[in-house]
Amino acid sequence: MLGKHLTGIRQLDRDDIERVIGLAREMDVVVKRGGSRLLSDKVLATLFYEPSTRTRLSFETAMLRLGGQVVSVADMLKTSSAWKGETLKDTILTVDNYSDVIVMRHSEAGAAEEAASYSHVPVLNAGDGVNEHPTQALLDLFTMNEACGGLDGLNITLCGDLKHTRSTNSIALGLSNYKVHIQFVSPEELRVTDGIKEVIDGKGRATYEEFDDIRKAVGDTDVLYITRVQKERLANPDDYDKFSGSYQVNRAILDLSDKTVRVLHHLPRVGELSEDVDDYPGAMYFVQPYNGVLVRMALLALYMERA
Ligand code: NCD
Repeated sequence: MLGKHLTGIRQLDRDDIERVIGLAREMDVVVKRGGSRLLSDKVLATLFYEPSTRTRLSFETAMLRLGGQVVSVADMLKTSSAWKGETLKDTILTVDNYSDVIVMRHSEAGAAEEAASYSHVPVLNAGDGVNEHPTQALLDLFTMNEACGGLDGLNITLCGDLKHTRSTNSIALGLSNYKVHIQFVSPEELRVTDGIKEVIDGKGRATYEEFDDIRKAVGDTDVLYITRVQKERLANPDDYDKFSGSYQVNRAILDLSDKTVRVLHHLPRVGELSEDVDDYPGAMYFVQPYNGVLVRMALLALYMERA
């Protein structure tokens, strides 16, 4: 069920995900013919308590491509009343007077749920701490689906800091609706959490294995999704150098596979994905930002009930 708010991909079933994918494909046609006026009477508010390049700008681009208007706070903790100590509740009960939809990023897991509980307009989660990043996962599933001609049957590798990365949490939860094989690759201390594995087990559709070395996983995979170590979320920031040096994807690693592996990254990359992959035929990480606009156009239309 899509529901009034999008706080996590765990609330979506396979039909919902397919609906978003299908609508995103239609939005490609809309963009290529110069946009539409579908949301010309609507205002989007973006409230970001954590830094962002792609998520905020692509949501705002999506709204503008659909003819809507945008009000934006890119740095809530510095330039909004949050700096003065205003609660999330008071901020949301104010901003929902100004806008028809709120896109919010926050450092606390569960903040999107909390905002949704106050808001009179739809809240779309743009990342809440280590919990979820559902719109990123939807654009990533869309990218994999379009590149590989469907999701069922794929072998998909999620590599990196799987303990703290909200995007890979949401991707794994989304993939739990499909007959896929997931390879989780991470240093021992940064493994995917049991909570995610329990959801996959509970649905009984996807299978998974865990590895500590990307070289052991790359030969079988169709998709390699690589992530950075989330330095700002480590219990001990001094561990960063140890973890970040423990894996790096480069052309030589991809050449261990006979296939053209689809390489995805949510970006930003900070050393774990070599620039020598940029001209590799499977590199998708500069296609994902375009797909992000399409998927967010689809989500704005759906949650504004214009789809
Ligand atoms: C990520 C995020 O903030 O979760 N960026 C994004 O949305 N594309 C990834 C990150 O910060 O590593």
